[in-house]
Amino acid sequence: MTVITNIEDLRRIYRRRVPKMFYDYVESGSWTEQTFRENSSDFDKVRLRQRVAVDMTGRSTKTQMIGQEVKMPVALAPVGMTGMQCADGEIKAARAAENFGVPFTLSTMSINSIEDVASHTTTPFWFQLYTMKDQDYLRRLIQRAKDAKCSALVITLDLQILGQRHKDLKNGLSAPPKLTLSMLADLMTKWSWGLGMLSAKRREFGNIVGHVEGVSDASSLMTWTAEQFDPSLDWEKVEKLIELWGGKVILKGLLDPDDAVRAAKMGVDAIIVSNHGGRQLDGALSSIRMLPRLLDAVQGDIEVHLDSGIRSGQDILKAIALGAKGTYVGRAFIYGLGALGEKGVTKALELLHKEFDTTMALCGERNVGCLGRHNLYVPEDFSGRWQ
Ligand code: GLV
Repeated sequence: MTVITNIEDLRRIYRRRVPKMFYDYVESGSWTEQTFRENSSDFDKVRLRQRVAVDMTGRSTKTQMIGQEVKMPVALAPVGMTGMQCADGEIKAARAAENFGVPFTLSTMSINSIEDVASHTTTPFWFQLYTMKDQDYLRRLIQRAKDAKCSALVITLDLQILGQRHKDLKNGLSAPPKLTLSMLADLMTKWSWGLGMLSAKRREFGNIVGHVEGVSDASSLMTWTAEQFDPSLDWEKVEKLIELWGGKVILKGLLDPDDAVRAAKMGVDAIIVSNHGGRQLDGALSSIRMLPRLLDAVQGDIEVHLDSGIRSGQDILKAIALGAKGTYVGRAFIYGLGALGEKGVTKALELLHKEFDTTMALCGERNVGCLGRHNLYVPEDFSGRWQ
């Protein structure tokens, strides 16, 4: 039995247990995957300042994200098709997040529905919204999130059209998967995944199937995006969505200072500096590299969060010390879920927490609020102007 000591251990187990189609969906970026790779390699360029002989007793990793208490500055990111990584995946991940004390964000493109997650948790979760052409469906979707008492709406702005991921096309990604010969061959060694799926609550997109009329094929994220996502989404429409929601709002997918300023003017609660985990605009700069520039642009007017590239507690610390108020993990929790179900998500959170806490101590800090640029060495040209 492997002793699991880091997120990479979970990824290796996950790879053995989950069909290639769903592993590839998570473990890929768009086109050449340059941005996907740099999201991680740029974290390595930021270095930590070691301090000694500092009393490290009574440390705390607790803080707040949009006014909500969190055990550490981390939320679970919205990940499409989480329920294909493991039966009832969204319910399991939401429960693990709730028990651990961090927010869970449910994707519009989830397998378990808003109502499924709400009926298996007691802490309000966050709902991530993709904007659809069908205004009636969109309004109903927002109403369903309100009825489920979701405590924040996370509006994704960087996916009006889908960045191409070669593996998904080659694998014929769909939910549920088609039982082709290669899928059946893959399942020979992944039978526990298959057994779990037989008794899963759902195997289709739970927020869509049964809620939209006239959709020819909701089994493929690619088809659905092309048919239904609203390519005309602009700031005015975003403003209307914010009004319609009437609660806390986080705008996800900002990577440019001008866009951050625009978002700050709208008075949203937070923005997430993100390039969608390197899955959309390939060639965009990494989130950690852009973070300082967006922070400068908004001048503390709103909370700035970050996703894309976080795989360790050290990464979390670097983002927070640079000025982010919170971070999101997507792949890191999916590795845990695919490897060991709900326990695996808890394990991923525990590993990240331990790394974050120990790293904070070795940097000579006792709480999250004390972290800052003084804890880091950042290359001079790290967030410099690109001509
Ligand atoms: C959807 O959010 C995706 O990145 O596939």
